[in-house]
Amino acid sequence: MNAHDTVRPIRWTPQGLQLLDQRELPTEVRYLDCKTSAEVAEAIREMVVRGAPAIGIAAAYGVVLAAQEALAEDATRWRELLEPKITRLAESRPTAVNLFWALERMRQRLATAGRDPVAALLEEARAIQEEDLAANLCMGELGAGLLQEPCAVLTHCNTGALATAGYGTALGVIRSGYASGKITHVYAGETRPWLQGARLTAWELRQDAIPVTLIADAAAPLLMRRGEVRWVIVGADRIAANGDVANKIGTYGLAIAARAHGVKFMVVAPTSTIDWQLASGDDIPIESRSHDELLTVQGVRLAAEGVAAWNPVFDVTPAEYIDAIVTEHGVVHGPRPDTMARLREKISAQGG
Ligand code: MRU
Repeated sequence: MNAHDTVRPIRWTPQGLQLLDQRELPTEVRYLDCKTSAEVAEAIREMVVRGAPAIGIAAAYGVVLAAQEALAEDATRWRELLEPKITRLAESRPTAVNLFWALERMRQRLATAGRDPVAALLEEARAIQEEDLAANLCMGELGAGLLQEPCAVLTHCNTGALATAGYGTALGVIRSGYASGKITHVYAGETRPWLQGARLTAWELRQDAIPVTLIADAAAPLLMRRGEVRWVIVGADRIAANGDVANKIGTYGLAIAARAHGVKFMVVAPTSTIDWQLASGDDIPIESRSHDELLTVQGVRLAAEGVAAWNPVFDVTPAEYIDAIVTEHGVVHGPRPDTMARLREKISAQGG
């Protein structure tokens, strides 16, 4: 860890999984203990842990707990008993493909596990966590390398250590860019309605002494028109094979505004976020969450009783609005089906 990277949201202990409770930040810094796989599924659903890579890592540890439970329930039928527990983890949130990617990887490890399946699964979950951190450090360098001269940038949602094993995706590029003098200042959109930007990104950057200014989401086009930022840097929850990107609601609008103002748009995501099965972003399932997230703030009702709400929490940015997708296997400039296919070939050539 360096001076600009101090937060770690996921800890495995002999007693189970500890998750930094992101519902409580920034007021309380408290880890929640998850001792069962059902508790892990609930923690993902309720956004104790959130952000695509972090959801995948938490779910992987959830499978370790699930295997322990299944073995304790019936050592002869444990494989059968494990399946519904994995299904419950898979049903916790629909959009971030890292969840399904991590569960599939755990299933594959299970298929080759020897006499001690829990130890094998724990080793795999740890590997997923460590590889994510390594990918973030690599993407941080690659993404910062795209910034030609010192500038301010805008980010959306929280893509930091809190959303990953550590360091972050888009926020990892921001960490690396700030450390190398390429990024002078960060603007963070508040990210209505859950306020990941206001509550999490601003807190995380403050923890790590990176200068941040919070803006209302609706202020972003004005910020761009005034020439205050050169790049928008965001993460992703699922990237389709043609380079379309699902990310936190509001990302699509930022991409359109960026293109209209000559601001560059960078997406930073590990290859575990790419869903090669989906030809385009139109096929990405978009999570809808409780209307209360919009109609109330911290339990206090804002809108009049009887007012309806619509709360899709992700949107899809078409690839044509994206200048670069940064992964741990390299940068895709101008994502399109063919440039994405070249990345896929490179990943297979590198044994990924
Ligand atoms: O609903 P959330 O907070 O889980 O959404 C998170 C995002 O949209 C992030 O931008 C994305 O997961 C990338 S995080 C490295």
